[in-house]
Amino acid sequence: MALLRIELLGSEVLRQRAVEVEGVDDELRRLIEDMFETMYKAEGVGLAAPQVGVSRRVIVVDVHDPEVRPFALVNPRVVESSPETEKGEEGCLSIPGLSGVVERPAHVAVEGLDRDGNLIRVEGGGLLARCLQHEVDHLDGILFLDRLSPLKRKMLLNKWKKQERQ
Ligand code: NI
Repeated sequence: MALLRIELLGSEVLRQRAVEVEGVDDELRRLIEDMFETMYKAEGVGLAAPQVGVSRRVIVVDVHDPEVRPFALVNPRVVESSPETEKGEEGCLSIPGLSGVVERPAHVAVEGLDRDGNLIRVEGGGLLARCLQHEVDHLDGILFLDRLSPLKRKMLLNKWKKQERQ
């Protein structure tokens, strides 16, 4: 296993649409292991492959809920989202030090392949729903900042620029 470098806001790869994975093989499983290790080291609850510079559709999630085992999803797709929404605080390992309140569907179901290539479905609300949507967004080049009001986004970007100068 290896720790991977986390790409930060401003990096091109975070803004690209990640490529569909053709097949689950040992190389992909190694990437998944490395992503888990990198996420745990950074104390995150989710990580998407573009955040480690790999433009492929893979995410890993561990919301530290005894009912939800840590999982990886390859080619994840949101197949259901509730009409009810919920607001919650989000941060991102690619934008350390910044957070904002994002409104999203409160409950989602996501389908994708597990690390053995089997189709699985993950569904839930709360942090799990938020995390799934945040990570799938990464695969489409979308950051939580994009889901804030223009004013709030501008404030956070200014804070980011100040942080970068230090
Ligand atoms: Ni993120």
